[in-house]
Amino acid sequence: MEYLLTLIRSLKPLLTDRSMSQEITEKGRADFVTAVDTAVQARVKAALAEKYPDIQFMGEEGEKGGIDFTKKVWILDPVDGTTNLIHDFKMSAVSLGLLDNGEPVLGIVYNPFTDELFYAEKGRGAYLNDEKISVSDEAHVKNSLIAFGTSPYDKQLADENFAMIKKAYLLSADIRRAGSAALDLAYIACGRTDIFFERNLKPWDYCAGICLVNEAGGRVTNMKGGAVTFDRNSDILATNGLVHNEAMEITG
Ligand code: IPD
Ligand code: CA
Ligand code: CA
Repeated sequence: MEYLLTLIRSLKPLLTDRSMSQEITEKGRADFVTAVDTAVQARVKAALAEKYPDIQFMGEEGEKGGIDFTKKVWILDPVDGTTNLIHDFKMSAVSLGLLDNGEPVLGIVYNPFTDELFYAEKGRGAYLNDEKISVSDEAHVKNSLIAFGTSPYDKQLADENFAMIKKAYLLSADIRRAGSAALDLAYIACGRTDIFFERNLKPWDYCAGICLVNEAGGRVTNMKGGAVTFDRNSDILATNGLVHNEAMEITG
């Protein structure tokens, strides 16, 4: 784990390079990639291949096919929150997860702008900068702070999404939209928020974050309470566990 934490921390100068984050290419509608995304992926992929030559690799900016999901695979989002990065919103993270036979067994989420490094390993708890973290103990949706994602690359889901978001707003203390699903999950893990949901996320958005939430005592399912998939996209509902069933009345 130390090797990985040092590797991820060493990406800070790259992640915070404003000229690189202004080198932008459009991948799809409202979906951008910057020179930071590609450089971070290249650096992490090379370091992992050298240290762990037998573990497969899947990253958002490149190779995604031909993975055997019964074996180990690194799942990397080099920049989760690229729109935030472009706008200098300072809410973006590297998200590195390790999936073993379909189960997230390690997760690292690093926000270089706040110097917050979240990490967890299966059976060993979850940490933020070396302090152990755990989910909140809020037992009721009416007192919960709810984070959500807008599925910005699926604008056709807007009506359904905003109906759910309105419900969440009316039933809870208040709502938040951070712009990084990996950090949304990390915030559940350390108890800053109680509920997070978003439709149609990709495995690199949530692999690391799910390990964090599980190890911090929370629960992650799809929006109806079923298992999350890692070989394809999934809807995500993450909570402190206590409010999970009640939260499904919003998302289910
Ligand atoms: C996105 C962010 C965003 C979420 C999107 C993701 P990207 O990842 O996590 O918060 O709403 O669904 O795709 O594109 O910045 O890596
Ligand atoms: Ca992402
Ligand atoms: Ca990304």
